[in-house]
Amino acid sequence: MADPDQIAFRHALGHFASGVGVMTTALEGRLHGMTVSAFSSLSLVPLLVLVCVEKLTVMHDMVSRSAVFSVSILGEADEGLARFFADNQRLAVPEFRPGTFHLGSTGCPILERAIAWIECRVHAVHDGGDHSIVVGRVVELEIRGGQAPLVFYRGGYAGLRVAG
Ligand SMILES: Cc1cc2nc3c(=O)[nH]c(=O)nc-3n(C[C@H](O)[C@H](O)[C@H](O)COP(=O)(O)O)c2cc1C
Repeated sequence: MADPDQIAFRHALGHFASGVGVMTTALEGRLHGMTVSAFSSLSLVPLLVLVCVEKLTVMHDMVSRSAVFSVSILGEADEGLARFFADNQRLAVPEFRPGTFHLGSTGCPILERAIAWIECRVHAVHDGGDHSIVVGRVVELEIRGGQAPLVFYRGGYAGLRVAG
């Protein structure tokens, strides 16, 4: 079989439904966020998560230097936030409006609308091709609930229908 190309790769992986979060960091007074779906739990002892961060992103540069990040997990009503934090046009305006976030213990912004959030110190960074695998040691977390999670599936957004 010929090597699959990027289009086939994206199409195939698009069938793997994922949650959606906003990864944030803070560096030298600047707050930054970016939409992520390549976010996963990694270890229970110690508590570790990972995020795959594209090397060309602003986030990659900032989190490499700040060594702290948070992930605010989005609910199904917040497709707008997912789109906003994936759109480069946000870099021309303040990314975080007063009243929509608070700062966690590491100084990273946490979205008030998150259904859950975790806050991490960078534990390790591994090479992953055009991405880095950023491993975070969890220092704080909170579950707010209130709505079903936002789901990203085959290039589109959906809510989660829980059976039963
Ligand atoms: C649903 C969705 C999930 C995404 N997941 C990731 C991800 O896991 N890692 C990543 O590096 N970029 C991901 N992106 C792309 C970034 O959000 C986008 O490139 C962003 O503008 C980069 O931000 P920055 O360069 O300003 O830091 C995703 C985009 C969308 C719409």
